[in-house]
Amino acid sequence: MKYLGVNEIREEFLKFFESKDHLRLPSFPLVPRNDNSLLLINSGMAPMKAYFTGQEIPPSKRVTTCQKCIRTGDIDNVGKTARHGTFFEMLGDFSFGDYFKNEIVPWSWEFVTKVLEIPEDRLYVTIYEEDDETGKIWHDVVGLPWDRIVKLGKEDNFWEHGTGPCGPCTEIYYDRGPEYGCDSPTCGVGCDCDRYMEFWNLVLTQFNAEEDGTYTELAMKNVDTGMGLERMATIMQGVDSIFDVDTVKSIRDAVCAKANVEYGKDHKTDVSVRVITDHIRSVTMMTADGVLPSNEGRGYVLRRLLRRAARHGKLLGIEGEFLAELSKSVIACSGEAYPELVEKQDYIFKILSIEENSFYKTIDKGMEILKADMEEMKAVGEKVMSGEKSFRLYDTYGFPVDLTKEILAEEGMEIDEDAFTAEMKAQKERARSARAKSNYMGAAETVYNELPVELETAFAGYDVYDVANAKIVALVANEAVAETAQAGDAVAVFLDRTPFYAESGGQVGDQGVIKTETGVVKVTNCVKVVGGKIAHMGEVTEGLVQVGEMACANIDVELRMASSRNHSATHLLHKA
Ligand code: ALA
Repeated sequence: MKYLGVNEIREEFLKFFESKDHLRLPSFPLVPRNDNSLLLINSGMAPMKAYFTGQEIPPSKRVTTCQKCIRTGDIDNVGKTARHGTFFEMLGDFSFGDYFKNEIVPWSWEFVTKVLEIPEDRLYVTIYEEDDETGKIWHDVVGLPWDRIVKLGKEDNFWEHGTGPCGPCTEIYYDRGPEYGCDSPTCGVGCDCDRYMEFWNLVLTQFNAEEDGTYTELAMKNVDTGMGLERMATIMQGVDSIFDVDTVKSIRDAVCAKANVEYGKDHKTDVSVRVITDHIRSVTMMTADGVLPSNEGRGYVLRRLLRRAARHGKLLGIEGEFLAELSKSVIACSGEAYPELVEKQDYIFKILSIEENSFYKTIDKGMEILKADMEEMKAVGEKVMSGEKSFRLYDTYGFPVDLTKEILAEEGMEIDEDAFTAEMKAQKERARSARAKSNYMGAAETVYNELPVELETAFAGYDVYDVANAKIVALVANEAVAETAQAGDAVAVFLDRTPFYAESGGQVGDQGVIKTETGVVKVTNCVKVVGGKIAHMGEVTEGLVQVGEMACANIDVELRMASSRNHSATHLLHKA
């Protein structure tokens, strides 16, 4: 069979559907638009839901894309097997009330057998058992013998989510040969073994599922197909796993070179190499699409993937920071298909580097404690870590609980989930009641007491509105001293010099913005806290900011003017 690279298969697919009057669109970003039901785009059709439902008019009734997708449902298996991954590309063609079964069935066959030149005797298709129409097209129009058309039930070949548009699907399978089979007498298409591999799913949205359980024929029928690009490439390249296809392998090679290890020699090493290879693709793509590491939602997915990759790097013995450099190999092999990677490369390197380094700081301390805890547990034959211990790691040392679990699992240990949750609840309670507490001087006890006493900010003077090279010397994010803060965080920023006037003597503090290379803080007030330190209070509105970064600080001049006029007017009033 002819050999095709990932980038070539992608191009052949999109070109083929262009020749069938489809509009080629670039991949949509991984962050869904106007769709709260998904954290990250997970299929070709996901970003086009509004075109399918008719809420938005598509730019063409025929569209083709190669979509960046992330699925993290199987994250714990990534690395352990050569099959699982979190990032993949999905090729698809879409009909919004335009062509239907009569067109897509013969076209898909044409693409697979004429363009990719996959031998016909290696191919099988499945249809939904009640979808005779599609069966007839495969048989009468395409010419497939009935023994190559396999009927499957609703659970396999019918796409439905509650009420609304739904319909049968038809799938194309590649027979990898008896050597991949399970030798069971019933082994065939649909068997769980590795022999028959599904590579293209053609979803035919034909019906509307009604409240009463009946199906009515849709006036506007749709087609939504999905072909896993890396999976297709395993067929075209005659390899066994997505980690062996050309583009992914080039990243895998970069990982091995960095770690100075060889792939395929030792299972444990391979697991780590695969985790890093897969995760660096996901984090590079997510960062390019504007996701930032955080503790919730898609930001947490990014943080978790990045930290997992970083940790497996340490397991392989890689010293120091390495992820930003590895992301270059992702950009090198996918930058042409996804130009945003090249455009944003410096930004990507910076974000990955900040997050990786802040993780190492957290981890070093946490790891020591965890190791000691595990030694103690081993000594007494304990397999379940107490809630107190696991919570202390999380709360006092900022050590991610997922990581605690993963490291424990490697030694056949686990945490006591219920006890951990109970500790978490108790901590929230304590935090709530602590907020009202005062210290012995009667002043509010605040997080600002934890800042270094020597921290000082030089005020640039009343006639200076902008300072271009201020340095961020400390940060408080969401009421805790922090190294970084990101979009959405409530922050107090401390600079070495500032044009911001801090609220005092009846004059309000300045408002304005603080910008760094990676983020923007909207300052809504400037106040003096314990020890006269000048705190720029506000919110990170874009990106992330970090201690040590250089920043531009600009005050809102009009507001300053208005408030100082007001201030002098009040003064006069008092004098009168
Ligand atoms: N949307 C279909 C899938 O994800 C094509 O397989």
